[in-house]
Parts: sequence; C-alpha cells; structure tokens
Amino acid sequence: MAKGKAKGGKLWGGRFAAETANSVEAFTASIAVDARLYRHDILGSIAHAKMLAKQRIIPARDAQKIVRGLETIRREIDHGKFVFSEADEDIHMNVERRLTKLIGPAGGKLHTARSRNDQVALDMRLYLRDEVKIIIAALQALQQELVRAAKKYLDVIMPGYTHLQRAQPVLFSHHLLAYFDMFERDRERFAGCLERINVLPLGSGALAGTTFPIDRVYVAKLLGFPRVSKNSIDAVSDRDFLLEFLATSSILFVHLSRLADELVLWSTQEFGFVELPDGYCTGSSMMPQKKNPDVPELIRGKTGRVFGHLQALLTIMKGLPLAYNRDLQEDKIPLFDTADTVKASVKIMSEIVAGMKVLAERMLSAAQDGFMNATDLADYLVARGLPFRAAHQVAGAVVQFCVTQGKRIEELSLAELQRFSDKVEKDVYSHLSTDAVVGRRRALGGTARQNVMRRLKELRVR
Ligand code: ARG
Repeated sequence: MAKGKAKGGKLWGGRFAAETANSVEAFTASIAVDARLYRHDILGSIAHAKMLAKQRIIPARDAQKIVRGLETIRREIDHGKFVFSEADEDIHMNVERRLTKLIGPAGGKLHTARSRNDQVALDMRLYLRDEVKIIIAALQALQQELVRAAKKYLDVIMPGYTHLQRAQPVLFSHHLLAYFDMFERDRERFAGCLERINVLPLGSGALAGTTFPIDRVYVAKLLGFPRVSKNSIDAVSDRDFLLEFLATSSILFVHLSRLADELVLWSTQEFGFVELPDGYCTGSSMMPQKKNPDVPELIRGKTGRVFGHLQALLTIMKGLPLAYNRDLQEDKIPLFDTADTVKASVKIMSEIVAGMKVLAERMLSAAQDGFMNATDLADYLVARGLPFRAAHQVAGAVVQFCVTQGKRIEELSLAELQRFSDKVEKDVYSHLSTDAVVGRRRALGGTARQNVMRRLKELRVR
C-alpha cells in the first residue's frame, strides 16, 4: 500500500491496519437513507468552500473548482447518474469522494475546518427548514378548505356531541372552524420550530471548534441563518429541533386523526352526515356494496407511526453523553418518515374536505332528536326567576315525561309543560326550535350564526 493511502480506501482510513468488515460496512452505512440530503449537503459545502477562500484558508482557485465540482455532482444526482457507494457510508463522504475524482487534490481541501458532526447537523437543519415551510403552506391550504366548506355550509345544523351522545345543536360551520383553530395552533408551533431550526451549527468542528480562522457569520449569511450556535459541544450533539418537530407533528396528528375519525363516523350509514368523494374511497374485494373511507382511516392509522417516531428519537437522545455519538445517525428515518407522512396526510385531508358532500337534512333531523333543547328550557326558566339548579331539575323531569310519551319537548302542549312549572308561558316554544337553540348562543365563541359569520370575516381579512 502506498504511503499515506487509506486502508480499504476509506476517507478516514489512515489509522487502520485492517479493512472494515463487510457486515460492519452494511450495518453502519446510512447512504440508503441520507442520500436525500444531497442538495442540502452540497449547499452547505458550497458556502463552506466560499468562506474558506474568503478567509484565505484555501486558495480561491481551489474554492472555485470545488464549487463547480459540487454543482456538477448535484446535477449528476438530480439526473440519477450518480453511483452511490455503501463503502463511503453516508452522503457526506459519497459527495466528497466524487468531488476529488472530478477535480483532483483540490477536492481534498473542502473538509478543512469541518467535521461530519457539524456537517450533518447543518444538513438536517437545512433540510428541515425547507420541509417545515412546505408543511406550513400545506396547513394553510387545509385551513382554507375548512373555511371554504364553513362558508358553503354556513347554515347547516348538526347535533353537537359530548361523550358521543347528542348534546346541543351547533352549526356545522362552527364545528369545521374548531378544526381551523386546531390547525392554527399547529401552524404557530411549526413557525416556532422554524426559529430554533434556523441556527447555524457549522464551524463547531467535531465538538471543540476549529483552529482555522473561519468566519461563521459569513457562512450563516450565505445560508440565510439569522443566528449562529454559541457552543460547539451543544451544536454537534443537539437534536432538540428534531424532537420539537416530531412533537409538533404528533400534536398535528392528534388533530388530523380526530378529523379523520369524524369523517369515518359521519360517512357511516348510521350517521349519514357526509358522503366522501368516490375518488377518495375504495371498494371491497368481496362485498360489492362497500364504499370504504380508507383515506381518513389511513390518516388515523398513520398517527401511530408519527407518535412512534417521536418516542424513538426521545429514546435515542435520552442519556446520551456529550457530544456526538453515532446513535444520532438513527435520527434520520424518524425525521424523514414523519416529514413525508405529514406532507402527504395534510394534502390529502385538504382534498377530502374540499370534496365531501354534506347531507344537511340528515344532520338537521338528527339535531332535532334527542332533547337537545333541554338546556334551553332550563335557561328559559332561569330567565323567569328559577335558580339554574331548580330549572335543571324541571327540564330533566320534562325529558323523562317526553321519553314515556314518545314526544319531543316542543310537542308537549302548554298545559302539559305547565304541570312541571307555572313559570312556563306560550313564548316557550320560540325558545325551543332548533334554529332558536343555535341562534341564541351569541356569547363570544358560541355557535350563533352571527358569531360564525364574524369569525369567517376575520379570517377573510387575514
Ligand atoms: N452519517 C453520520 C450521521 O448521520 C454523519 C456523522 C458521522 N460522524 C462520525 N463521527 N462518524 O450521524
């Protein structure tokens, strides 16, 4: 073996007498997973090379060659012409190997004042920054579909539930806008993630910093980072920004799975509140009559893997000694799979919301059953001087009577109602209609039409 040549051709092979075992090569390589970081890896390397030249750490001519070489490599990978090698472990070394092949010894200068530890931390931040922006836009699109549906079905009344028992009638639009608010909080959380992702770790070296006179602020400016990490040890071992993203995604999936579940429920024959678009349902291989809501079911099901990925990374991080440990390589699958799952699920949820057909009559007739105006009868009695607790008792007794008679409250005669309380008068009926029950809930945040209208107007202004 020639002097100075690495054993087995590894870029780090200098101190090794024996070649890496094949099993180890296969076990430790991450290229199959992290190849997708190539654009961000190259972006970071170009900024690093420019900085090295500006600081006269490497000759400007070499930096130019490096930048052009990296751009060639990016095109090669873009067009599927790049041959990835497991022996080169990961995306960072695959790119560096090819660079040296393309431009000669100048390629070997790129890694000056840099370690894969700060490099990979940078790549992950660059990658996630783009993904989070896409996710925020996708969430906005979903919110827009919810607003659109709320406008379209503004006056549709549905039963509102607690304990999945009919509770009080609400506007379907109000129910939809509840999801709007959940996704709004998700959006805010992702925007918060973005702030903490947006910190440049490059320049931390392996863990202790570097002896070269680098200019980290310049690199940050080239890459659009408003902040530079302040502690090299933290910078290479920190994955909080990933945990935060996974936690935020998990909360988002709490919301997506709740909406998905309601869509599944609403599209049953038992509920019959919505009809999902044919193009978003599938049939059964055995039962010819089936139209199954597989898309919302899968969104609900994918919640499992998203929660699982958060748990996985929390477990990877727990108790890790500072600074970099190879364990951190295991952050990639949870991250990539979560980002992919979030993007796909939010997008398809928007499409379903846009395409669902609301069966308003079914909703309304469900809303008229179940004594959901009992609270309003009690409120009516309160307005006529009864303490709420006593009014509650009276209304409860009325409901019990109705059950034995097979009648709705508003179907009882005035004389029948007056048997329960002498405070009841003829005007009670105007308080008991479903429209009135919804329309009287005017306190801020309630389901009255004027509130929902005001909210929709607010959202249009934004
Ligand atoms: N592929 C590695 C990772 O994803 C890159 C960093 C490797 N660093 C090291 N010291 N082996 O974490």
